[in-house]
Amino acid sequence: MLPSSLLAFVAALPTVVMAAALPELPHDVSEGGIKWTGKIFKDDKKPTVLYGEIEDILDQILALNPNYVASEVNPDPETAQSALQRRVETLTCATMATGGQYDITAGADHLVSVGAQCETPAKQCRRMTCKNTTGSYLCSEGNNISLSCNSLARIVRRVNTDCCNGKDKYGSNSSGKSGHIYNDRIWSVWVGYGNCGHSSSSRPTDYPYPGGSPNGVCQN
Ligand SMILES: *[C@@H]1O[C@H](CO)[C@@H](O)[C@H](O)[C@H]1NC(C)=O
Ligand SMILES: *[C@@H]1O[C@H](CO)[C@@H](O)[C@H](O)[C@H]1NC(C)=O
Ligand SMILES: *[C@@H]1O[C@H](CO)[C@@H](O)[C@H](O)[C@H]1NC(C)=O
Repeated sequence: MLPSSLLAFVAALPTVVMAAALPELPHDVSEGGIKWTGKIFKDDKKPTVLYGEIEDILDQILALNPNYVASEVNPDPETAQSALQRRVETLTCATMATGGQYDITAGADHLVSVGAQCETPAKQCRRMTCKNTTGSYLCSEGNNISLSCNSLARIVRRVNTDCCNGKDKYGSNSSGKSGHIYNDRIWSVWVGYGNCGHSSSSRPTDYPYPGGSPNGVCQN
């Protein structure tokens, strides 16, 4: 009695495993992070499109071209338009739970390392970078928005230099950094807390200030 029922159970097992593994879902680009568009090699005739967080995209690029240097393959000249854009950027500090300044710098460095264009779909937020408990986000307020990843690095760095520069009650510099930069109603960049285990479509408003702020509060 027992052996045959055991046998039936064992025989049923692979079917169950296969059923679970069967649905080969297509890669859902709407959940796939930032859309990166750029050349992998200097002589590429067409740009390549990659999806993910910047750290994943950098890994994908370097796997294809270990000698990739963004400034050579995808030069990003400062245009009159980008200078104009800069003038309508509004910075507000302490707008979400905080990130750590060193991890914010690392995220900005990764944006420079990938270069080219970073895009977020219409009316969506995408986490661009994530390290430890720190993230940066690009949100589109209307249509899909594509910005040079280099200028996004500059914008991310502004939160480190211009936000949370006060001292805490022990006289130590504020270690937690948080802020967002709005460009009219076109896009916003948010810098602060990140949970790399959460969906890359998480919205920065999911982590209101001060929240847990494991990186410390923002002293202004
Ligand atoms: C962040 O993670 C790196 C390893 O990826 C580690 O070396 C570093 O100490 C961490 N920083 C903080 C503030 O936890
Ligand atoms: C928005 O997406 C469309 C369709 O993929 C694309 O043709 C267009 O260039 C994108 N716009 C921006 C600003 O990235
Ligand atoms: C604290 O901030 C001041 C001024 O920004 C800076 O000169 C100093 O090096 C900082 N100290 C530490 C320990 O980071």
